[in-house]
Amino acid sequence: MLVAGRLRFGTGNAEAARDAQFVFLCLPTPSGAGGQADTSLVHAVALEIGPALQSGATVITKSTVPVGTCEILEKAIGRSDINLVSNPEFLAEGTALRDCLHPDRIVIGARSEVIARRVADLYGSISESRLIITDLASAELIKYASNAYLATRLTFVNSLAEICEAAKADIQSVMVGMGSDHRIGHAFLRPGPGWGGSCLPKDTQALVETADRLGCDLAVVKAVIAQNVYHHRRIVQKLIKALDDQLMGRCIAMWGLTFKAGTDDLRHSPALHIAQLLRDMGASVRAYDPTVAVGSLQGIDVRSSALSAAEGAHALLVATEWPEFASVDLASLAAAMTGHVLIDARNVLDPADAVSNGLSYFGIGMAHSGNQPAQVAV
Ligand code: UGA
Repeated sequence: MLVAGRLRFGTGNAEAARDAQFVFLCLPTPSGAGGQADTSLVHAVALEIGPALQSGATVITKSTVPVGTCEILEKAIGRSDINLVSNPEFLAEGTALRDCLHPDRIVIGARSEVIARRVADLYGSISESRLIITDLASAELIKYASNAYLATRLTFVNSLAEICEAAKADIQSVMVGMGSDHRIGHAFLRPGPGWGGSCLPKDTQALVETADRLGCDLAVVKAVIAQNVYHHRRIVQKLIKALDDQLMGRCIAMWGLTFKAGTDDLRHSPALHIAQLLRDMGASVRAYDPTVAVGSLQGIDVRSSALSAAEGAHALLVATEWPEFASVDLASLAAAMTGHVLIDARNVLDPADAVSNGLSYFGIGMAHSGNQPAQVAV
């Protein structure tokens, strides 16, 4: 692309935008102090490029911005010969390329279908069934609605997992049964220690803030946010119970620190919150994560391998679903640990293998020890 002259680099935003027919704004919108999306970078760049844009240019917002932002940007740029378009990004971390090449949908919000179609043409031969053309506000809202719905779905699953444990039911069977309804589907139904990352926590908060600002009460999403924190705490409670209420002074090993596998992102990671709760209660935490450097991280002693993190630990908590954890030899794990408690908050280990190696296995949403008699924790 460089050789063909189709890719150029410059030193300023205005310079990059000057000759462009289409300008994509792909800036971060982190959480502001009150939970609202901080759109200051998007605003600053829009103002910077505004005067430099050629007549008829289209400015496309890829950033996740609250409903109404494109309209505000239109006014801020103040040029009737410029088009604003909302084209939200739906990439997930770790699968960005696949999501980009095979998108579920391309959402384009614009003032007119003609402008929207011009942007749609940039995507080449995208099938009409995957193209959603709508107004600016709806396009902006679709992004938040999607992330808030995904968070709600996961919190619902995690709450069901809690019920399964109490009722001696099996969350995997419940999810298969539920997901087999074509209206529900199987994707995004894995129970875990709660959701995290740089998007779901930020976007649920921002949607609640937008709703409050518009005089609407998004009670369901507020409850989902609170319940997610409860699920982090629930993992800690499970661990304490498995340790016969003796956490103080104990050494807890954690496998996985990132908010999900396939990324090195630690932002809003349930693992880190859980580690903090454990440390606040007097435990020491030792961890291994394939993407986190050996050393001290927020008071956690990060080791170089799964087994070295588990050495001498009273309990092990699997917090992230890294595939390599499933291939650790559980006999070696049991031999390395001082205690026998194994909390698998991602259901990635084999319960029967764990139990046969003398570990007390507690998964998420299953009665105990993979439906085999629980062993007494040391
Ligand atoms: C999320 C959305 O999935 C993307 O569609 C969106 O584009 C992106 O945010 C964004 O706004 O930019 P991402 O933050 O990369 O993507 O992470 P997810 O794959 O959605 O996972 C979020 C959390 O849910 C993680 O903690 C993950 O472990 C958890 N999760 C996910 C589960 O516990 N169970 C599942 O079945 C799926």
